[in-house]
Amino acid sequence: MFQKVKGFQDIYGEDCVYWQKAEKKVHRLFSLFSVREIRLPVVERTAVFDRGIGQTTDIVEKEMFTMPDGENDTLSLRPEGTAGVVRAYIENGLYNPPALKRYYYLGPMFRRENPQKGRFRQFTQSGVEYLGSASAFVDADVINLLMSYFETVGIADMLHLEINSVGCKVCRPAYQKKLITYFEAHKDALCEDCLRRLERNPLRILDCKQEKCRTVTKNAPLMLDNLCEECGTHFNNVQKYLKQFKVEYKINPLMVRGLDYYVRTAFEAVTDKLGAASAVGAGGRYDGLVETLGGPEIPGIGFAIGMDRVVTLMKEKEKLAESGAQVYIITFDDKSVEEGIKLLNGMRERGIAAEIDYDRKGLKNQMKKADRSGAKYALILGEDELSRNALTVRYLQDSTQVEMPLDKIFTDLQFK
Ligand code: HAM
Repeated sequence: MFQKVKGFQDIYGEDCVYWQKAEKKVHRLFSLFSVREIRLPVVERTAVFDRGIGQTTDIVEKEMFTMPDGENDTLSLRPEGTAGVVRAYIENGLYNPPALKRYYYLGPMFRRENPQKGRFRQFTQSGVEYLGSASAFVDADVINLLMSYFETVGIADMLHLEINSVGCKVCRPAYQKKLITYFEAHKDALCEDCLRRLERNPLRILDCKQEKCRTVTKNAPLMLDNLCEECGTHFNNVQKYLKQFKVEYKINPLMVRGLDYYVRTAFEAVTDKLGAASAVGAGGRYDGLVETLGGPEIPGIGFAIGMDRVVTLMKEKEKLAESGAQVYIITFDDKSVEEGIKLLNGMRERGIAAEIDYDRKGLKNQMKKADRSGAKYALILGEDELSRNALTVRYLQDSTQVEMPLDKIFTDLQFK
């Protein structure tokens, strides 16, 4: 017997009810914020991610599913959505005419991570990208959208928002030097991974979960204390607007995101209900990414929500069940099948979910199946009733039943 691939999931049964609700809310809420859907390939040239996300990030270094394209290049399954949106934005000239463009996507992403609670190798993100504005006002409304989403699916009280500024190309290099000097002096106290990070991506040391590294990090210089004037003003303005949008937040000066394209605002919505996989949605500003991928100088900001994590939290909050048909149609001979199909079509045309028993193994057997189906009504087209141009309506919850003329069924039966 075959088994699914490690880190991949089969989603079925009532889980799909949660997924459908979570996804419906994405389309509804994001539209309310005037964000338009964009549907992109799950595969891009590997260089899009190498250049976009950054070669020294965990994602690009070790987590991408990469394959040869059969010619001289490699392709990768997308590990995230931002680089692809920016690629499409440039390729399709979507920056013309110049205006703020807002896109959202909903779909599978792939990362070869170690599977654990809330962490999969194929997972679903719903993401938003705003391209064309450097304003802190935009940052605040994007964060507002993220947090509003958690409200609409009923999990806002299980999360809190953390924000930080990661500086820009003006102030970050000097800060990075300071950080390296600091960690060089505390090399002995760092874990193996952080020693490697010190060479390749020193900011990531701030993010290390190892106790000994956290002790060193406590006294490390912070980006927030080393922002240039513009970044400082931008961060203050983001906070001012967040307050006006009534979005609560906490500053986490140690937050470093796992992707290299971020500048200035970075944010995460975190929970303590998912163990190590604590971010349910995260994002930030990425002025410079459009240029890095070969486009004009256009700023951007966005986020992505981990939908698998959303669904896990929703399940802790509410009980949703699969809804079956409302009506179960029971037939016997050819004549009753003919009437049954008319009823079936009529119900479906009126938006009433209906099913018919295809096996027709006697009344008792069909009634048992009707009960198990979860339907409210069984419509029984017996020979006797049909001879009177009628049928029996059985209310399955209390086993009461009435006879009703066939031509009155759509007008007289009250579907509760
Ligand atoms: P990210 O922080 O890498 O950002 O991922 C965003 C969210 O996706 C995470 O907070 C988490 O909920 C979910 N996620 C990530 N990896 C996994 C996994 N292996 N299994 C389950 N869920 C996962 C980005 O991807 C950026 N593209 C976000 C962004 C958009 N920034 C600007 N625009």
